This record gives sequence, C-alpha cells and structure tokens, in this order.
Amino acid sequence: MTTRIIGIGACVPDTIVTNNDLTAFLDTNDEWIRERTGIGERRVSTEMGTTALAVEAAKRAMEDAGVSPEELDFVILATSSGDNSFPSAASEVQGIIGALNAVAFDISAACSGFIFGLHIAQGFFASGIYKKGLVIGAETLSKVVDWSDRSNCILFGDGAGAAVVSAEETGLIHMLMGTDGRKSKVLDCVGRTLGNCLTGFKPEMGFMKMDGKEVFKFAVRKVPEIVNQILDESGLAKDDIDYFVLHQANMRIIESAVKRLDIPMEKVPTNIERYANTSAASIPILLDEMKKDGKLHRGDKLILAGFGAGLTWGATLIEW
Ligand code: UT7
Repeated sequence: MTTRIIGIGACVPDTIVTNNDLTAFLDTNDEWIRERTGIGERRVSTEMGTTALAVEAAKRAMEDAGVSPEELDFVILATSSGDNSFPSAASEVQGIIGALNAVAFDISAACSGFIFGLHIAQGFFASGIYKKGLVIGAETLSKVVDWSDRSNCILFGDGAGAAVVSAEETGLIHMLMGTDGRKSKVLDCVGRTLGNCLTGFKPEMGFMKMDGKEVFKFAVRKVPEIVNQILDESGLAKDDIDYFVLHQANMRIIESAVKRLDIPMEKVPTNIERYANTSAASIPILLDEMKKDGKLHRGDKLILAGFGAGLTWGATLIEW
C-alpha cells in the first residue's frame, strides 16, 4: 500500500502585510524585496496561533476528502513554530477536531516538514499499521522572526496546509529525504536557554537567525539535485511530470531550479508573491490553490521538493 492524497485544505490569516507596510519600521523597500525574493506581501496572524490555523486547514482537508475525524488513524503536524513546547500542536488539533482514534504528534524538520510527514505516513501505510491520516504543515513564524532584521523578517509569512492521506494501491511512487546537521547553525532559532535552580531563573527565547547567502547557495544546488535524483531512481523523465511543486522560499531559488532542470515555468506553480515563505505550510497551501484552480487531475504526476533548516531536504514523486 502507498500514500494517496485524497483531500487538501489550507488556512491563512486574514491580515495582509505588504512590502510597503514594512517600510513603516524597517529600512527596506518594495523594489528590493520583489527583486531579491519575488515576495509582494505576506499574511501575519494577530489572533490565530499555529494550532488554530492547523485546525481550520485540517477541517477543510477532511471536507474535501469526505472523511470524518473518527476515521483518522494519525495526525502528523510539521511545524517550527508551535504554540507550546508541549503538548504538541498535533495533540491539540486531534482534540479539537475530534479525531479521537488517531495518534498525534509533531515533527520538526522546518520547511521540509510536510514532505517528511508524507514519508512517515508512507511508512505506516507500507507496513499496514494504519489506513488514513492527516499530514499538516502549520506555522506562525511571525512570532519567531526578528522584526528588526531586514534580511530575514521580510521573507516569512503565517499559514497552514493539510492533506488527508489514505493507504491505496497508487499514490506515492518514490521518495527521498536527507539531513546535514553540520549546517544546523546557518538557519536556527534557539529555544529556551538553560535557566534553572543552579544557573539562576533566566531562560530566554531566541529569534530566528539566518545566513541567507549560505542557505541560498545550498538551495540552488540541492533542489535540482533532488529532483533529478528522484527522476533517475524512479525511471521517469522530466516530460512525464505534470507539476514540480517546490517549497516557496525565494522566487530566485525557484527560477534557478527551473533553469538548471530545463523545465517550463508553466509546470512550476508559485504563490510566494502573495504568501512569502510559510515554511512547512508552503507546499500544502500551494497544492490547495492548484486544486481550487482546477489544475490537478487524477493521475497527474507531481514532484514535491523542499529544503530547510537542519539543514534538511526531501522530495516526493506522487500520482494525484
Ligand atoms: O526556507 C528556507 C529559508 N531561507 C531562504 O530561503 C533564504 C535564502 N536566501 C535568500 O533568499 C537571500 O540570501 C536573501 C533574500 C535573504 C538576501 O538576498 P541577498 O541577495 O543574499 O542579499 P544580501 O544579504 O547580500 O544583501 C545585499 C544588500 C546588503 O547591503 P550592502 O551590505 O550591500 O550595503 C543588505 O544590507 O542588501 C541589503 N539588504 C536589504 N536592503 C533593503 C538586506 N535586506 C534588505 C532589505 N531591504 N530587506
């Protein structure tokens, strides 16, 4: 048995923050941000936390799939910006939507998280343990970026996307994933620092820090590499693929991948202009838009590919 996405849903906060809005407190401008990143605006949450966004995306995905919460065997939620250290956001989502037969847990793989989640589901389905579940990517990165760091905060947005996955005969065709922990410091956000009865009670929380150039160099090499690898290993050609759904991190990274892979831009949907980088949520939010736009048809072949902090990367070849 393999993983088929049978329902997709997304939820983004209502509030739009444009590049021009940022100039009120940041030394930046719309032209720089658009040219360097392709981003025009992002959603920033003032009321809904990561769990609330995930709940809404999950409900929409279940409605799309025609699946009730009781039918779910697992809820896997990928996030780097959960509302709590514990319990997991997945546990909260499970309780709120009433998926009481499901085991629920979070995974931390940054922007690769949704893809890693699909691969964990694949393990469950291939081994016959479970039959149905939710894989969610949800983030409120607006609370972890440093809003005084102009080379960082302009890149990110809040949102959630969710997929109902089911064990079926066709679906996931091939997958790969990887990590290089030696590069863990190029993009990080430290948790509470040590603060206890011996050191004094002063735990602090960090903000996201990023060596943008390092991440950029890594991404422009890694994205085409993993797309080519998954094609080689599955014996398919670029022309067999209907869509390349790439993590929405920076339009220049996407364009560079398109050039290196020599694939038509029409096969590479993007929405970074409107949502910026929503990390683990970017791929399912994009899939949801594609479905609503009537772009996805049963049998279409898609490569999903992402990279992120860790450093992590992953790619999945699926049949829709
Ligand atoms: O999911 C993974 C997440 N991370 C990424 O995907 C990030 C990958 N990296 C990038 O997207 C790019 O490296 C950035 C967009 C972050 C930065 O672009 P860059 O072309 O590498 O710019 P830079 O850092 O080399 O900065 C060039 C100049 C600097 O000024 P000086 O030193 O040349 O005078 C920066 O201070 O641009 C300046 N700058 C800005 N100017 C206006 C940096 N940020 C801004 C800004 N507005 N927001």
